[in-house]
Amino acid sequence: MTGNNVAARDGFSSKFGVVAAAAGSAVGLGNIWRFPYVAGENGGGAFLLIYLGFILTIGVSVMLAEFIIGRRSQSNALGAFKKLAPSSLWWLVGVMGIIAAFVILAFYTTIAGWTLEYLFQAIGNGFSAKNAAEISGMFDSFQHSTARPLIWQLLFMGLTAAVILGGVQKGIEKYTKLLMPMLVLLIVIMCVRSVTLDGAGEGLKFLFKPDFSKITGNVVLEALGQAFFSMSIGMGALITYGSYVQKDNRLPSTTFQIALADTGIAILAGVMIFPAVFAFGVQPDAGTGLVFQVLPIIFQQMPGGYIFGVFFFLLLTVAALTSTISLLEVVVAWAIEELKMTRRKATILFAAAISVLGVLATLSFSELSEFKLFGKTIFDNLDWLSANLLLPLGGVFIVIFLGWILGPKIIADEVTNQGTIKMKLLKIFIFILRYLAPIAILLVFLNGIGVFGGN
Ligand code: TRP
Repeated sequence: MTGNNVAARDGFSSKFGVVAAAAGSAVGLGNIWRFPYVAGENGGGAFLLIYLGFILTIGVSVMLAEFIIGRRSQSNALGAFKKLAPSSLWWLVGVMGIIAAFVILAFYTTIAGWTLEYLFQAIGNGFSAKNAAEISGMFDSFQHSTARPLIWQLLFMGLTAAVILGGVQKGIEKYTKLLMPMLVLLIVIMCVRSVTLDGAGEGLKFLFKPDFSKITGNVVLEALGQAFFSMSIGMGALITYGSYVQKDNRLPSTTFQIALADTGIAILAGVMIFPAVFAFGVQPDAGTGLVFQVLPIIFQQMPGGYIFGVFFFLLLTVAALTSTISLLEVVVAWAIEELKMTRRKATILFAAAISVLGVLATLSFSELSEFKLFGKTIFDNLDWLSANLLLPLGGVFIVIFLGWILGPKIIADEVTNQGTIKMKLLKIFIFILRYLAPIAILLVFLNGIGVFGGN
């Protein structure tokens, strides 16, 4: 198995291409919308600390494991397991990944739709001359309306499908390289505005001063789920991208670069949001609407706020798009290679099928807001199920598969590019794969859902 059929598959043209595309997958609404809202609900500083701990140990290991499995197999998320472990049941892990892609895309496009609405409002100068209460009111009435959020969601899914139709290389590489650095620059400027607001200090304290009394089993599970979600790991998105990575790519350093970019942007988003949350008297645990209620007020308080607002929501749309294409590509690559569909047919069919579930997620804020399972709306269930269950569980199987089934020889081969480069942390990596990650993830999960009592 040397995978010399690279030429037959789409590939990334340069080292930067794949780093950019995988970073584009990782950086998205997970950093700018989900991180602040989940951190806000889970007490801030202590959550951040646990989240960082998970990224550094389990997160980077699962990411590297996915890249290795993908490059080794030259295959999609499901085909990879079939090819590397024929006549076994490991392909079921791939099935779980494809289900996770469905679930995530369904609710992710709801929020991406909100982003489009905010872009539209920003262009029309819809936030100017409104106070905090009015801006919150705008958000509520938009969120509770029926047609508008649905139209934006479907439009966003259409955009995703359009990029995927163009194929991997042309589709993904092109968009990411220029626009992500621009987004980072804008966020940094907004951080400066936010931390110089009156009362900003409280927000920084909330984010950076851990209050250990706030740690519960549930907080730890939420931190693990956020780490998986933000890094795009646990469901084979990076197996699929790994299959497009060139043989001479140094996977460990690629992994660190992506993890660093992803985590750095999440922390910056926190620095942008929380000082403003406290300065404007918004509740940090306001939930899914948090950043949409705060961002427009920050723009109002900035010179040139109109232009900043337009560009910010435009770039956030692009960031969300580079994430949704990585999710849809998982499903499409599987359908092309395993179901022998054409790219066109697979894209249209699955974009439509996922949209059906997506509509239910969006209606969770209006018509279906009273419809609850386990005390949560459909949207909240999809969000919880993917981040806190499907991704961590997928991660357990991925590390066990690499650590125990493929084993140390193949791992060493892949991380050292057949012995041509060195990897200092190889032993630690194998230990994490084989023991630490699977045991820790399972304990965090069981403790998080209260199996050991108390919470
Ligand atoms: N990581 C992305 C974000 O933070 C979302 C995402 C894209 C994702 N692809 C994924 C999450 C695969 C889990 C798995 O916005």
